[in-house]
Amino acid sequence: MSDVPPDSAEPIADPALFDKVVNLTKRRGFVFPSADIYGGFRSTYDYGPIGVLLLRNVKDAWWRSMVQLRHDVLGLDAAILSPPAVWEASGHLANFTDPLVDCKVCNERFRLDKLDDTEVCPNCGATHSFTEARQFNLMFKTHAGPVEGAGHDVYLRPETAQGMFTNFANVLQTSRKKPPFGIAQIGKSFRNEITPGNFVFRTREFEQMEMEFFVPPDDADEWYQYWRKERFQWYLDLGMPEHLLRLRDHDEDELSHYSSATADVEFLFPWGWDELEGIANRGTFDLTAHATASGEKLDYFDPATNTRYTPKVIEPAAGATRTMMAFLMAAYDEEEVRGETRVVLRLHPRLAPYKVAVLPLSKKPELTGPAEELLSTLQPHYMCDYDETQNIGKRYRRQDELGTPVCITYDFESVDDHAVTVRDRDTMGQERIPIDEVLAHLQAKFGF
Ligand code: GAP
Repeated sequence: MSDVPPDSAEPIADPALFDKVVNLTKRRGFVFPSADIYGGFRSTYDYGPIGVLLLRNVKDAWWRSMVQLRHDVLGLDAAILSPPAVWEASGHLANFTDPLVDCKVCNERFRLDKLDDTEVCPNCGATHSFTEARQFNLMFKTHAGPVEGAGHDVYLRPETAQGMFTNFANVLQTSRKKPPFGIAQIGKSFRNEITPGNFVFRTREFEQMEMEFFVPPDDADEWYQYWRKERFQWYLDLGMPEHLLRLRDHDEDELSHYSSATADVEFLFPWGWDELEGIANRGTFDLTAHATASGEKLDYFDPATNTRYTPKVIEPAAGATRTMMAFLMAAYDEEEVRGETRVVLRLHPRLAPYKVAVLPLSKKPELTGPAEELLSTLQPHYMCDYDETQNIGKRYRRQDELGTPVCITYDFESVDDHAVTVRDRDTMGQERIPIDEVLAHLQAKFGF
């Protein structure tokens, strides 16, 4: 975790945290470099047995808050492949570009807008060595079917958002909703980033969690303010410390081609403040563009006022993979315990990959049998780990590094007293709980 600032001081980024977290994620099976046995494939990652749980929990927490606990947002799962017409209308073919420069001395490529000094190459130190900037389109293009060429071009979506706009009329007609209402989607997006990096922060294949909220035009500003607050609170509710978060409004010259106002939720990464999520007022840009290009009506007839209007759109757009990384960085902690360093991920129980680990004290069947029985009573409720290898101290340390909030030890006394030792990850405090009260104990502790 980065240092908590003394009152009114700026929080301080911790550059050493980056390597610690990346090493932990590989050592414990969160994230592996993709195609590892072939030397890896640059900035592409696979989510291992623990990472897949954490990532899924981040996405589930988002879905729960954005769809399940509301009555005004509906879900969608749109296709990843889409025809050029979608991206022509959305403006991505013309505008979804980054300025690319090459260093004429070392041939390294850079995004001009990400350079600290546009006169000095950060790789070789040469000055005034950059080529003129070229606009590089970030979309991945491929072809559908066996024939290449015009008429067969297909794009991998660079954002999930367009699926919500192209399905606006379908959802409106089938759901009986009326503005204000939203369509939410979680899924993979692809961008041919010039400079991917910082682990899973910027990759070419990543997951987004986006919601398009369609509102009567006069209410757009109010809803924009609402979603800025709501989305900031989501991170806090999942245990993100407030001093590591901030909401930053975009300057006029930063705004995307579709946006009239955007605020970013930023996290204090080891390299400084950087974006987790953007909340944008997209106005009527997308619905109008798709209606014009497709010839379909993408508006709303309000029977109450007998008027037809194109809703404005407020869009909270977050990255699932990037957010997962931020939660890992925020949760990482080290402390001295009896002369040794204990590494612990203080993840919110909703995000923790395993909620519970069941640990029989020995491999003897009189312990493993009842421990497995206890495991099977907890598994329908929670994702559980089960571990009977190594000494109990090492097993606790392993669970601490996975962020498991509770370990349950079945020992020799358990056979007689029908109770188990329940250990808390954060305090390392232990208490003896009757086996038939364990589930109720966990439900009270987690609140779910
Ligand atoms: N529909 C709007 C949109 O896509 P964006 O700011 O380009 O907005 C939204 O993307 C979020 O998606 C970002 O805040 C970030 O969390 C995530 N994201 C974008 N590009 C990414 C990349 N190359 N790797 C990982 N996450 C990325």
